[in-house]
Amino acid sequence: MSIKKLRVAICGGGVGGLVCAVALSRYLDIQVDVYESAGAFTEIGAGIGVWPRTWKILAALGLTDELSKIAIVPPAEQPQVAFNFRKGDQPEGVNFYTLTTPGGMLAFHRPDFHAVLLRHLSSQCHTYTSKRLVSYAHTLSPQPATKLYFRDGTTAVCDVLIGADGVKSSVRSAVVRELAAVAQAEGRVEDAERVLAAGPPKWSGTVAYRAVIPSDTLRRHAPCHQVLERPMLYLGKDSELTVYPISCGMLVNFAAFRSRYDKENTTFNGDWVQDVSREEFFADFTGWEPEVHSLIQAVQKVNRWAIHTTSPLPSFVSGRVALLGDAAHAMMPYQGAGAGQAIEDGYVLATLLGDSRTTLSTIDRALRAYDAVRRPFAQRVQASSRENGLLYTLNFPSLTFDRPVSRADREDFVRLGEIRSRVETNWQWAWTTTIDGDLNRALRMLDGPTPNRRRS
Ligand SMILES: Cc1cc2nc3c(=O)[nH]c(=O)nc-3n(C[C@H](O)[C@H](O)[C@H](O)COP(=O)(O)OP(=O)(O)OC[C@H]3O[C@@H](n4cnc5c(N)ncnc54)[C@H](O)[C@@H]3O)c2cc1C
Ligand SMILES: *[C@@H]1O[C@H](CO)[C@@H](O)[C@H](O)[C@H]1NC(C)=O
Repeated sequence: MSIKKLRVAICGGGVGGLVCAVALSRYLDIQVDVYESAGAFTEIGAGIGVWPRTWKILAALGLTDELSKIAIVPPAEQPQVAFNFRKGDQPEGVNFYTLTTPGGMLAFHRPDFHAVLLRHLSSQCHTYTSKRLVSYAHTLSPQPATKLYFRDGTTAVCDVLIGADGVKSSVRSAVVRELAAVAQAEGRVEDAERVLAAGPPKWSGTVAYRAVIPSDTLRRHAPCHQVLERPMLYLGKDSELTVYPISCGMLVNFAAFRSRYDKENTTFNGDWVQDVSREEFFADFTGWEPEVHSLIQAVQKVNRWAIHTTSPLPSFVSGRVALLGDAAHAMMPYQGAGAGQAIEDGYVLATLLGDSRTTLSTIDRALRAYDAVRRPFAQRVQASSRENGLLYTLNFPSLTFDRPVSRADREDFVRLGEIRSRVETNWQWAWTTTIDGDLNRALRMLDGPTPNRRRS
């Protein structure tokens, strides 16, 4: 057995935690332990969209061959329809925008995607289920380390703790308390209060009804429904529908959103995820076009998700603890980006920890580099996803409609054009950029500050 330079514990085996574990599996001198609170590593049966920026990371991790077997993957860079935008909250809908991007959006069935990640964990990576982290403490002897406490009464030890435990993260709560204590000790009372307030996740005012429809079922209701062929977004006042084919066209992923922006950042009363009946959201789509009704009629099992987000943190890192994914930056789903951002976090963090310059004594530098490149980026995506939500639910100031849109109306089309250009500008990072620049910038930080040499 090789000597390990670092023991890394990952709390949470969702998409972010598992990608981080796969990426750390590349380094033989790192011990990886993944602790998952659920009884098994699973994902809910719904869809997940992946953009080229994320796909390139999955390729670097050697996952794309297998992933290509569970989705239709067009040749890279080839223009593809990513989404068709249609105003659907009127008797006859209006297609107003076809978003075509290089490579399009790749759509997966979540359980399939998760299974591929699990298969790529190396044997030096240990996974544990039914391990719910409740707290951690820093110990100093025999050497500085972090001790983990689980709900079942057991404990574990690590050098670096990665909180990948999702929007309700317990690691996040502890990190927030630590950051606040530091600010307090330095006399920054307002900063301390701000970070404490940013701790708990907040309800976005939006709920999502999620379902997976067998394509054959939809075909029975509407034989030539356009979503059987292409991803669709149906926009309307306070509601929106995101639907796209997954599993090589055998299934259709369905998400219907209902937004109440006046309730944003309040507390949601009830379970965050709950099985509900279809009738619960029927009424939201009264007056919408037949195409939308066929979709809703084809839905059988549906669950309601109260979408929660987190306020921006001043750091994703405290000491030797780092947050990633939803634990660090839970966002609105309107750019199909939450999982992609978790994947970026996991990849960058693992690459920094695995670098030969990172040792027990320089962990802090690696974690600072992670925070420096990932936090601004993920927080920008968080903000643009929120703005997309306002645009999709026709809540964006001055881009609202009080009557059905008509093709003949010039003013309507100017307004729809404005929605189109904002959406496209907000979203371009997903297909026009790669992570390489940020990763290289972070790696350069591992050399430490350049010594202050006096010029003569
Ligand atoms: C309607 C909807 C549609 C979406 N569509 C997309 C999309 O198309 N593309 C995209 O990129 N993103 C999408 N997202 C966002 C994406 O699902 C999340 O951002 C992503 O799952 C976050 O991954 P994560 O690993 O950070 O957290 P999670 O996937 O939530 O994983 C956290 C894991 O930690 C475990 N855990 C929790 N607490 C503890 C504890 N105390 N101890 C140990 N383990 C713990 C949990 O059981 C879970 O397995 C969507 C979200 C929603 C709501
Ligand atoms: C809710 O919080 C987010 C940031 O955390 C902010 O951008 C938004 O304006 C807030 N909304 C309301 C209604 O206060």
